Amino acid sequence: MDPAAVLTEAGSVNERLTAGGDLWLRPWAPDDLDAVLCAFTDPEMWRQSEEPVDTVPAAAAWIAARQRHWATGTGYSWAVLDARSVVLGCVEVGAVNRRHGCGWVSYWTTKAARGRGVATAACRTASDWALYDLGLHRLELGHRLNNPASCQVATRAGYRPEGVQRDKLRYDGRWYDVEIHARLVTDRGFAAAS
Ligand SMILES: CC(C)(COP(=O)(O)OP(=O)(O)OC[C@H]1O[C@@H](n2cnc3c(N)ncnc32)[C@H](O)[C@@H]1OP(=O)(O)O)[C@@H](O)C(=O)NCCC(=O)NCCS
Repeated sequence: MDPAAVLTEAGSVNERLTAGGDLWLRPWAPDDLDAVLCAFTDPEMWRQSEEPVDTVPAAAAWIAARQRHWATGTGYSWAVLDARSVVLGCVEVGAVNRRHGCGWVSYWTTKAARGRGVATAACRTASDWALYDLGLHRLELGHRLNNPASCQVATRAGYRPEGVQRDKLRYDGRWYDVEIHARLVTDRGFAAAS
């Protein structure tokens, strides 16, 4: 893949990234409050945040935390948008450790946007950027074994499975096994977002 394809036009990390088709990524902004609140009304989304995102202050805090991560270089979280600038989801390279050159990737899409390749394109684009532009070496992610859609996204974005962590997560008193995937900057044979 051509690394330039994921660089921002101005070469700045604050500029937008194109993700193929009419999808594009930009850092979260305070104006996204309603979109964040709306996305988190989906019951599938409650596991995507340590704290509930069900009030205006909670949504504002969620956005502010992501802006802090950008400012401190500890995480890079993007809103995923369509041509009309409707927020379709989120992709994040978090827990960035520059010493070891690694980061933890996560993603979600709004209920209405699912099943049309949005998470896959966003994950590929953010991953390409983190590996080829930011300069990380290894990106990791994990999904519950009972989340096959997330496994599919990871696999199609170039993340190889590395094993299962037993009883890694607990929700509502139930333990869940988590499959770990990783993508290295040295991995070959993977085509970037088109
Ligand atoms: C998981 C999630 C991010 C997927 O987003 P998406 O935009 O629908 O993903 P994509 O359309 O790019 O790809 C989903 C793939 O999973 C497949 N899929 C969906 N449900 C599936 C299932 N039950 N079993 C197997 N595959 C499934 C789809 O067919 C698609 O693959 P395809 O393009 O080959 O057909 C989205 O469902 C979501 O936000 N869920 C709630 C939050 C979450 O679970 N985040 C991930 C945490 S690890």
